[in-house]
Amino acid sequence: MKKMVGEFHYEIYDNLEALKTDDKKLVKAAIETTSDAYAPYSKFKVGASIRLDNGSIVIGHNQENAVYPLGLCAERVALFSAGSQYPNETITAIAVATEKKLAPTDIPPFPCGSCRQTLVEFESKQQQPIKVLVTGTNERVFVFKSVQSILPFAFNDLFL
Ligand code: THU
Repeated sequence: MKKMVGEFHYEIYDNLEALKTDDKKLVKAAIETTSDAYAPYSKFKVGASIRLDNGSIVIGHNQENAVYPLGLCAERVALFSAGSQYPNETITAIAVATEKKLAPTDIPPFPCGSCRQTLVEFESKQQQPIKVLVTGTNERVFVFKSVQSILPFAFNDLFL
């Protein structure tokens, strides 16, 4: 039996200018906030920016700790901040960026598994897709239609 279980979709844009205006603004916000990341141990600065349905942008960057496992990724800092400040607002997109010098390839550092799992829950909870935009060294931006596109066959709250 064949069953459609999801749609996995992404596009690659060669530079920021190729993006739609609101996406360009969001990616720029993620890039700008990388410099404020607190990453004295890894020196790997990551920025994230979230767009809400009401037009607001919520930013976050990685927060490390001398007790290494206690640190949190930029994506989850931004997500939990958005969830706290705007509990009833739909998230339409998240952009993730790394300090340019840190990603020496054309492939940007994509969100880690834990952040993807966290994103899945936000997407599932609001029952509307969250677009994911990721950029690294150059101006290239990977754009995923939904969180489902970066975490296929995810475990989610629908199973509980
Ligand atoms: N990091 C993020 O902020 N997001 C990710 O998706 C992967 C990794 C952070 C965590 C840690 O502070 C540093 O990058 C090195 O792993």
